[in-house]
Amino acid sequence: MVTTTRTSSFTRTRRTRRTEALRGLVRETRLDPSQFIYPLFVTHGRDARVPITSMPGQYQLSVDQLETEARELRDLGVRAVLLFGLPAAKDALGSEAYDTDGVVQQAIRALKAADPSLAVVADVCLCEYTDHGHCGVLTDAGEVDNDPSLDLLSRMAVSCAEAGADIIAPSDMMDGRVGAIRSALDGTGFASTPVMAYSAKYASAYYGPFREAADSAPQFGDRRGYQMDPPNAREALREVQADIEEQADIVMVKPALAYLDVIRAVRERTDLPLAAYNVSGEYAMVKAAVERGWLDEQRVVLETLTGIARAGADILITYHAKDAARWLREARG
Ligand code: PBG
Ligand code: ZN
Repeated sequence: MVTTTRTSSFTRTRRTRRTEALRGLVRETRLDPSQFIYPLFVTHGRDARVPITSMPGQYQLSVDQLETEARELRDLGVRAVLLFGLPAAKDALGSEAYDTDGVVQQAIRALKAADPSLAVVADVCLCEYTDHGHCGVLTDAGEVDNDPSLDLLSRMAVSCAEAGADIIAPSDMMDGRVGAIRSALDGTGFASTPVMAYSAKYASAYYGPFREAADSAPQFGDRRGYQMDPPNAREALREVQADIEEQADIVMVKPALAYLDVIRAVRERTDLPLAAYNVSGEYAMVKAAVERGWLDEQRVVLETLTGIARAGADILITYHAKDAARWLREARG
């Protein structure tokens, strides 16, 4: 038997950190553009590329701009987009949400024509389409009415599937919507279209910039009556469980950074694919600090996305998707 006397305190951890090649070998979490979903805001009109002030680098795009967008995403290896629509008109029932010629339906058709291999995810919710800005329809007393909302959300889901959406992603937080949408899809020939449920979606101040981007701020009150209360983590597991029972194919936690513990807890509870939404306010904070020269954008973004993946997310929904894909490619050389 050989006994050794240690003459250095260097340990295995530091020995395997010495070079990039060694760090690469022992890396536990890897980012790849194939796990990114890039959100897009689509608007009526032509040649529109309207900058979103609070989200530098993001735009409201008209449908004719989407072909270029699809080409760029393909070149970067980003294979999925999440669509939000700005309707021509809003009303109490959010009619354009389930109109065959609605802006999102047109966008889905344009993207699938430009690149059939792109995964087009349709966000399903009424808040961009209702004049009151809530995610469902209202009772006479002005409360969000659960079950009548389910019918309209199901109509929107089917209408997006008919347009060619590859995934339906309900973000409304009504109870029972995953099951209602699942049966509506099954009953209309879309049994093979998956549902990605915004399962644990918190009533978050981090959605601020998105509401400018999608013009979807509630005109009275707030969303705390249907979105989750930020202090609750166990409740998130019940929401996820309910969505799994209703046959969700992918579950989601949103936002990401203030809820990394929730991402981890959900990861430990389910083997389903787990998505995390790195939301508009999280993006805006990084952009604002970078503009002031206070942060190194590339390093901060990749560190953030890695952290969300390390917490347990398989799928990263992020406005940084294109930049991150570019940086990952440059790093590979
Ligand atoms: C609409 C919806 C919101 C987001 C995604 N879908 C806003 C909200 O619930 O008010 C937020 C996305 C983001 O902030 O990036 N139901
Ligand atoms: Zn909504």
